[in-house]
Amino acid sequence: MAALYKLWIAVITILPFTQTSSQTENYIVHMDLSVMPGAFSGQHHWYLSTLADVSHKSTVRATATTSTASSKLLYSYTHVINGFSASLTPSELEVLKNSPGYISSIKDLPVKHDTTRSSKFLGLTPQSPAWKVSNHGEGVIIGLVDTGVWPESQSYKDHGMSEIPKRWKGECESGTQFNSSKCNKKLIGARFFNKGLIAKYPNITISVNSTRDTDGHGTHTSSTAAGNYVEGASYFGYAPGTANGVAPLAHVAMYKAVWDEGAYTTDIIAAIDQAISDGVDILSLSLGLDGIPLNEDPIALATFAAVEKNVFVSTSAGNEGPFYETLHNGIPWVLTVAAGTLDREFNAVLTLGNGISIKGPSLYLGTTYFYEVPIVYMDGCHKMSKLIKIGQKIVVCQVGNDGNDLSDQVENVSEANVTAGVFITNYTDTEEFIQNRFPVVLLNHKDGKTIIDYIKNSNKPQASVEFRKTNLWIKSAPSVTSYSSRGPSASCPVVMKPDIMAPGSLILAAWPENVAVDPNNSPLMFNNFNILSGTSMACPHAAGVAALLRKAHPDWSPAAIRSAMMTTADIMDHTMKPINDIGFGNKTQPASPLAMGAGQVSPNKALDPGLIYDVNSNDYVRLLCALDFTEKQIQAITRSSSTNCSDPSSDLNYPSFIAYFNAKDSPSNLTTVREFHRTVTNVGEEMSTYTVNVTPIMGLKVSVIPDKLEFKTKYEKLSYKLIIEGSSLLDRTVTFGYLSWVDAGGKHIVRSPIVTTSLSPQLS
Ligand SMILES: *[C@@H]1O[C@H](CO)[C@@H](O)[C@H](O)[C@H]1NC(C)=O
Ligand SMILES: *[C@@H]1O[C@H](CO)[C@@H](O)[C@H](O)[C@H]1NC(C)=O
Ligand SMILES: *[C@@H]1O[C@H](CO)[C@@H](O)[C@H](O)[C@H]1NC(C)=O
Ligand SMILES: *[C@@H]1O[C@H](CO)[C@@H](O)[C@H](O)[C@H]1NC(C)=O
Ligand SMILES: *[C@@H]1O[C@H](CO)[C@@H](O)[C@H](O)[C@H]1NC(C)=O
Ligand SMILES: *[C@@H]1O[C@H](CO)[C@@H](O)[C@H](O)[C@H]1NC(C)=O
Ligand SMILES: *[C@@H]1O[C@H](CO)[C@@H](O)[C@H](O)[C@H]1NC(C)=O
Ligand SMILES: *[C@@H]1O[C@H](CO)[C@@H](O)[C@H](O)[C@H]1NC(C)=O
Ligand SMILES: *[C@@H]1O[C@H](CO)[C@@H](O)[C@H](O)[C@H]1NC(C)=O
Repeated sequence: MAALYKLWIAVITILPFTQTSSQTENYIVHMDLSVMPGAFSGQHHWYLSTLADVSHKSTVRATATTSTASSKLLYSYTHVINGFSASLTPSELEVLKNSPGYISSIKDLPVKHDTTRSSKFLGLTPQSPAWKVSNHGEGVIIGLVDTGVWPESQSYKDHGMSEIPKRWKGECESGTQFNSSKCNKKLIGARFFNKGLIAKYPNITISVNSTRDTDGHGTHTSSTAAGNYVEGASYFGYAPGTANGVAPLAHVAMYKAVWDEGAYTTDIIAAIDQAISDGVDILSLSLGLDGIPLNEDPIALATFAAVEKNVFVSTSAGNEGPFYETLHNGIPWVLTVAAGTLDREFNAVLTLGNGISIKGPSLYLGTTYFYEVPIVYMDGCHKMSKLIKIGQKIVVCQVGNDGNDLSDQVENVSEANVTAGVFITNYTDTEEFIQNRFPVVLLNHKDGKTIIDYIKNSNKPQASVEFRKTNLWIKSAPSVTSYSSRGPSASCPVVMKPDIMAPGSLILAAWPENVAVDPNNSPLMFNNFNILSGTSMACPHAAGVAALLRKAHPDWSPAAIRSAMMTTADIMDHTMKPINDIGFGNKTQPASPLAMGAGQVSPNKALDPGLIYDVNSNDYVRLLCALDFTEKQIQAITRSSSTNCSDPSSDLNYPSFIAYFNAKDSPSNLTTVREFHRTVTNVGEEMSTYTVNVTPIMGLKVSVIPDKLEFKTKYEKLSYKLIIEGSSLLDRTVTFGYLSWVDAGGKHIVRSPIVTTSLSPQLS
């Protein structure tokens, strides 16, 4: 006790020193509107007056005026929180804490976007139900908080677009190199937010102070969600064809809050606040914050308000995979999207001197064709001294199955001034290797043997290489990518995350023509389309699907749309085998729901899910109450001055399940029983009967009561209980299975993943 007391004193005495340095920080401040004096004409004036008061009380000499207060105020928020953000010194913050109406504050944090470095695959063709019923998402407004947009891109041409919806209150703001006349019926909104960034770095120069995209990320994500048809698109010959977004007739509104100079939560939530006011239907957020609790995550706070206003929010899971508990945006009211592969490969074709052709992954952008070059084989390509003697030849290298060895060999060979490198490996997580400024071709062991045999048996071995080949219909797709962040979510472990998987790897979409496609490539190359990978790319795919569903089912809540997407997702790949996880290099294994959520999004099936798991704001509040948040913390999220925690429940009516069990070395043999309650709403035909089907989970007893649900009417709700019993998970960290409600005709299969795990996620 005494020690603690001393420490406290020490903190107090340190404060004056930090004060004199007058270093300011940005804070997001929650206020209790119910105590706002009636004299104020609105929140904004109250906040300004509060800040003027704070400056006055914490400053000795300077005269406090509303002008100093208004320079402190960054944003007053109207939807995302009741409160504002401000740039404050430590002493000002202390004074503010004693101001009437102050609830709590959180420090501004930097945000990162989720890129590591399409639609046909999802079953979207002109005849597919998802496009027909929704008319390609016509009239739906998708808002993105991102790096801006390159308005001249063909993907934002507005041919075929309907008029701007009358309910739209957004704007197209002019700014540096951005004239508001750039907007049209496709790109209907363009706004930018950087007051938080500038307050953080007062000396910063914002090079392009407008919604114009100087990075490329926002142009790529927005055209992925809703880009119009562009014929003849390609990436230097790779991925040729017509490019289009998932909802090609939806409108786009860009909110730029991610800058080359940085990105801060004060700006991000200001953008979300504005998007809600403007009237977007869908928000796509390919960004997130790692390692912070739910109640301190500004994105969680802001999206709660959005969802309450019926805005559907899609977010990226993050790119910190393949390890468990790396996921961000584990927010119960949003969709959290994992990244999968497409059924498309980029290749080079090697034609050997004996006429045999072999193809292998490559995404080389340099010389298209090397004609009849000598080819040599080396067991392993490590030794620089040997490599530099090779000269203008193609070198074939034998690599272990290990990604590190591949990385070392590619690195060494690319320094050695040979013509090209061919690497024989079973390693499956190849993305980072094929995007190389040096010509790299990867081969599997079978093709590797063919080439080695040829080299050994030929007295003048040579080969030609042709790059820029694209192969479609790769059968083993989709797979979960290595980088996609895995659950469970440490910020809210009781809700299984991620929710779903969408294409994220090597995605072709629009790009600013003056931003280099790859900053690591030399020479720099420019193109109006680029191929990128990341959960950033998966998130707008899911947002586009949500737009189609919003159009087809305007009365569905965000939770109902999420449920339809999850319960109809695919868990099999195109060979009808379980979707694989390529996250662990050479050993592919069936993906767990902690990697891919409920599975790969399937828009045509999501249109008609049969049953949905709905959730309303009150259910989320009951969850927050059960998570041991303080009343203040819950108030910060719900923006209401009172919190009714009379009926807490962590058993959210979610279309997935996660049950925590003891590890095998638990001292207790006691049987653990985990029970879940769910209510499903019939959105299919009246008079439907569903029976349950549960896949066994080894070592555990799984039962469902009742095992049959008989609906008499449409929109009828029926409840059931899932019980999982067992003493431990034996020696496994994660096991999983599926619970499906199957209707009598077999037309609807309403599937939910069940994860049982001995992990105990905690924020470190
Ligand atoms: C913006 O575009 C309009 C229409 O093309 C043009 O009349 C106006 O001069 C432009 N404004 C600026 C500042 O370039
Ligand atoms: C900002 O610029 C001013 C004047 O140029 C300089 O005195 C100050 O040190 C700079 N501050 C930072 C944080 O770089
Ligand atoms: C950026 O533009 C906005 C709106 O036009 C303006 O208020 C702001 O001062 C500008 N900021 C900078 C750093 O130029
Ligand atoms: C070549 O690779 C090995 C690893 O196998 C590494 O230790 C060595 O430093 C590399 N040489 C050069 C010149 O990069
Ligand atoms: C490769 O060639 C470049 C220039 O052509 C030269 O600067 C470099 O030293 C060479 N590297 C090796 C390992 O020989
Ligand atoms: C590589 O893959 C092939 C085909 O799947 C397999 O036959 C071979 O054993 C693998 N090699 C190694 C070293 O794992
Ligand atoms: C690949 O497989 C080999 C042999 O089975 C194993 O030793 C190695 O650890 C594996 N590498 C990865 C990254 O999983
Ligand atoms: C709190 O909610 C419960 C139902 O969840 C309701 O019965 C009760 O009246 C509410 N209490 C208050 C003070 O609103
Ligand atoms: C736990 O189970 C094992 C094997 O079933 C048994 O030998 C042991 O006595 C049990 N321990 C307790 C504390 O019940």
